[in-house]
Order: sequence, then C-alpha cells, then structure tokens
Amino acid sequence: EHLAGHLSTCLKGLDEALFGGIPFGVLTELVGPAGIGKTQFCLKLSFLAALPPSYGGLAGRVIYIDVEYKFSSRRMIEIGMRSFPDVFQKKDMAKEMAGRILVLRPASLSEFTESLHKIKVSLLEQEIKLVIIDSMAALITGEYEQGAPKQHSLGWHISFIKSIAEFARIPIVVTNQVRSRNRNEVSHYSFQGLSCSEIQECSSGYDSHLVAALGVHWAHSVTIRLVLEAKSGQRFIKLAKSPMSPPLAFPFSITSSGISL
Ligand code: GTP
Repeated sequence: EHLAGHLSTCLKGLDEALFGGIPFGVLTELVGPAGIGKTQFCLKLSFLAALPPSYGGLAGRVIYIDVEYKFSSRRMIEIGMRSFPDVFQKKDMAKEMAGRILVLRPASLSEFTESLHKIKVSLLEQEIKLVIIDSMAALITGEYEQGAPKQHSLGWHISFIKSIAEFARIPIVVTNQVRSRNRNEVSHYSFQGLSCSEIQECSSGYDSHLVAALGVHWAHSVTIRLVLEAKSGQRFIKLAKSPMSPPLAFPFSITSSGISL
C-alpha cells in the first residue's frame, strides 16, 4: 500500500500519530455510537480537503455520500469560519467552499458503486480529493438485510471502493455506528463459523451487530480505524488500527469550531 500523502485533520496529536493525517489511497473508518461526533468529524474533513493549500488543505472537491441526511453545508461553513476566519475575508468564499462538496444520496450500495463506476475516470480531472461514506452500515442495510436481489456480493463492493482509493490516490473515510456498550448485555454470537473471541480480535472496536451487517471482510479492508467513544462524560478518539502507530487515545470535544482536541 502506498501511503503517499495525507489529509491533515488539524488535530495535532492525531496527525502526529498518523504521520501527517488521514492517508491517501486507503480506507479509514470512524466507528462509534450515535451522537459521538462522526458526522462532525466528516464535516471538518470535508472543509479541510476543500481548503486552499496555503491553509493546509488540498484545494479539492469532495464526494460526500450522505445516507442519513446528516450533511449540513451551513454547519460545515460554521466549522470552517471558526477555525480559519482569514479564509473568509475573500468575497464569496463560503459559497465557493460549499460548492466544492458534491453531496450524493444513493438508495443502496449498488447505486453508489454504480455512480462511482461512472465517475471513476473523471475523479482525477475533477480534482476529487476525498470521498466520505456516512454511513456504510446504513448504505448496505437496504439491500443486504432485506434480502433484495443483488448483482454483486458485499465483498465485491468493498473491493471496488478500495480500488477507487488506490486508483485515485485519495482518502476514503467511512463512518459506522456501534451500539453504546451495555455491560449487562450478554451476546451469544457466531458469524461465518468464527467464534466470538475471533470476531472481537479481528474487528476491534466493533460490536456483533456491525460484524453481522458488514462482515469480517470489511474489518480487514480498513487500513486505519478510529474509534470514537465517551467515558465519564469525556469524549475520546482512539487510534484502534494503524499500520504505523500503537493504539493511542486522545480526549476531544465538539465546539462551534467542530471537533477539537
Ligand atoms: P450518528 O450519525 O447518529 O451515528 O452520530 P454521529 O456520531 O455522526 O454524531 P454527530 O457527528 O452528528 O454528533 C452529534 C453531536 O455533535 C451532538 O451531540 C452535539 O454535541 C455535537 N454538535 C452537532 N452539531 C453541533 C453544532 O452545531 N454545534 C456544536 N457546538 N455541537 C454540535
């Protein structure tokens, strides 16, 4: 895997642990319970990818797969204005930045990969510098849980998404929701012949619900996994999987300027 280039998260400790930020060419997953801040993180990353290089951005366009109607261009601009007020001294900058985000709302994973297939060759000339899928589990729910006819297996779609990241040398950031941990809940679970402990090992940060939805193939396809969680009222972002860093956790908060350490 070629980790040529990074999208800075502007979160100093995290960028350092990731040797510059979210790596190009691979999948990065944000996992956490509802309301922890995954979408807020994605809004910030979208702004940063669109930001001029003089401010540390990639001056690119972003494809934002907004499965659950959570994208807010107003909130993204607010995060940007609070973090980089100078940028907005230039006239019409808010409009320009918002215009760099292409928001898609496909009804299924097939529809999404189909549209990705169509624009694959133009990703480079369109200067797409980031693809966000918010959220992957929600995107597959329609076709895989309801048993609708499918042209390709989930594994095919996952491989295709990975190949897009490699081909276009861009980061693909995917969110996934886990249920918040309930210590009293005992789950007896096995998936494709793997025992509970094997599932936990290969899908650290997951719960059985997500493994059931996405499968173990997904867990292995992700190069970076960031787990967002809350403990005693403090939010943490944990680098749960990375080829170049030990597991590290950073406390963070969500303010008007977005996610900050
Ligand atoms: P799901 O999509 O439900 O899995 O949640 P998520 O992890 O994507 O959560 P999201 O990113 O939507 O974060 C929700 C949290 O962000 C809220 O609990 C708020 O604390 C915070 N938040 C959202 N919007 C704002 C805002 O405009 N200002 C501030 N200060 N905080 C906000």
